[in-house]
Amino acid sequence: MDALILAAGRGTRMHSSFPKVLHPLQGVPLIRHVVSKVLRLNVGKLVIIVGYGEAEVRSALGHIDPRIKFVRQTKQLGTGHAVLVAKEQIGIDPGDVLILAGDAPLLNEQTLGRFIKEHQKTGSQVSILSSEVTAPKGYGRIIRRPDGKVAAIHEELDATDKERFIREINSGVYLFSRPHLFRALEKVKATNKKNEYYLTDTIEVLIGNGNKVSAFCVAGEEEIMGINTRNDLIKANLVLYRKKINDLLASGVTVLSPENTFVASDVTVGEDTIIFPFTYIETRVKIGKGCRIGPFAYIREGSRIDDKAQIGSFVEVVRSRVGKGTMIKHLSYVGDTEVGDQVNIGAGTITANYDGFKKHKTIIEEGAFIGSNTVLVAPVKVGKKAKTGAGSVVLADSNVPRGMTVAGVPAKSIKKSKRISKMGKFYER
Ligand code: UD1
Ligand code: CA
Repeated sequence: MDALILAAGRGTRMHSSFPKVLHPLQGVPLIRHVVSKVLRLNVGKLVIIVGYGEAEVRSALGHIDPRIKFVRQTKQLGTGHAVLVAKEQIGIDPGDVLILAGDAPLLNEQTLGRFIKEHQKTGSQVSILSSEVTAPKGYGRIIRRPDGKVAAIHEELDATDKERFIREINSGVYLFSRPHLFRALEKVKATNKKNEYYLTDTIEVLIGNGNKVSAFCVAGEEEIMGINTRNDLIKANLVLYRKKINDLLASGVTVLSPENTFVASDVTVGEDTIIFPFTYIETRVKIGKGCRIGPFAYIREGSRIDDKAQIGSFVEVVRSRVGKGTMIKHLSYVGDTEVGDQVNIGAGTITANYDGFKKHKTIIEEGAFIGSNTVLVAPVKVGKKAKTGAGSVVLADSNVPRGMTVAGVPAKSIKKSKRISKMGKFYER
C-alpha cells in the first residue's frame, strides 16, 4: 500500500507567514506527527503534496525516510486537485492508496490499523474514516441514505441547514482503489462555494458509477481533529498534554496539578517521581524514579535526569544529564552539561555554555559541591568532590582537580586551612 499526504495549503486561517503543517505541536511540526505514523504502517511509498512553503516543508521532512517522495502542487486548487497532481507518482495500477491530510496530527495508529482492516474486509473501492462528533462545525458531513449506505460528503459551506445537523464527519483519511480514484477525479468539477476541486466529490462520482463506498465510524472525536486555526492548535496541544498526564498518573508518577504541567508525549518518567506545578518538560527527556521536579522547572529537549535527582524551582536544564541523587534546587541554568551522581548545585548556579559563536560542554563530576551563584564558563570541568565557593567564576578551559576547593573571580584554589562558610566568605580555621 502506498500513501499520500496533502500538505500544499497555506493554512490561511492560521494567519501565519509559514506553512500551517510546520506549526509545532509539542515542539514537532504538525506534518511530522502524521508522517511518522504513516511510515510505521509499513507503506511502500509515501508521496507528500507540497506547495506553499515547499522548501521549508521539504527540509523539515526530507531526511526522515527514503520512502518519502515530494510532488509539487503549484496552485492550491483544492484537495481533489492536490491528489490529481500525484497521479504519475502514485500510478493507476490496481491496489490501494491511503490518503491523509497533513493537518490532522492526533490520529491514532490503532484507529488507522482498524480502518485499513475494515476496508480490506469489505472490498470497497473507497473507504472513508469517519467519526461521530459533538461539534461537527467546519468538517465535511457524511451523507447517508435511509438504508445507511454512504451517498456523499458535503462540505460545511455547501451543506444544507439540515445536513449541518449531521454529526458524522469526514476525518480526511481515505483508502481508495487507485484506478477508481483517478478516473473519478477527472470528473470532479469546482462548482462549489470555494470554487475548489474537492477530493470529497469523488464519492458521489464513484457511487454514481456503481462502486462500493463505505464509511467506517471508528475514530474518536479528539483524534480526528484537523488543525485549521491557532485555537485548534492549542486544543490539540492540550489533548496531548492531558493524555500524557493521565498516562503518567497511571504509571506511578504524581503530578500535583495536571492543568499546570506540560510534558511532551515521548517523555519517560520513573515511578514515585513527583512533578510539582508549572513544570514544562520537552520532547526526548528521560526522568528516573523518585525524582522531585519543579515547581517552575523547565527541562528541555534531550535531557536525562537520573533516579532521586531534584530539579527545583526556576531551574532550566537543557541537553544535559543530571546524575543520581543530584540536587539543583533553585534558580539555575544547566546547559550542555554532564552532572555526575550526588552533586549539589547551589542556588543561582549558571553554566555559561555559549560564547557568542558556539556552545561548549561542562562536566561536573560525582560528589562535587558547587557554591551558590557560581558561574562555570564552558568548556570547563569540575572534578570529583571538588568545591566552588559562592560567587566563584570558574573560567573557560579550567579544570578544577578532584577534591580541590576554588573560590573567587576568577576562581583560584584556596589553601586547605581555609574553609568556605555558607555565606561564601572565607575564614581561617
Ligand atoms: C477537509 C475535507 C473535509 C474534512 C476535513 C477533515 C475536502 C474538500 N474537505 O476540509 O471534508 O472534514 O478536511 O479535516 O477535502 N491541501 C492541499 N492542496 C489544496 C488544498 C488543500 O494540499 O489545494 C491540503 C492542506 O494543506 C491540508 C489538507 O489538504 O493539509 C486539507 O485541506 P483543508 O483546506 O484544511 O481542508 P478542510 O477545509 O479542513
Ligand atoms: Ca483542515
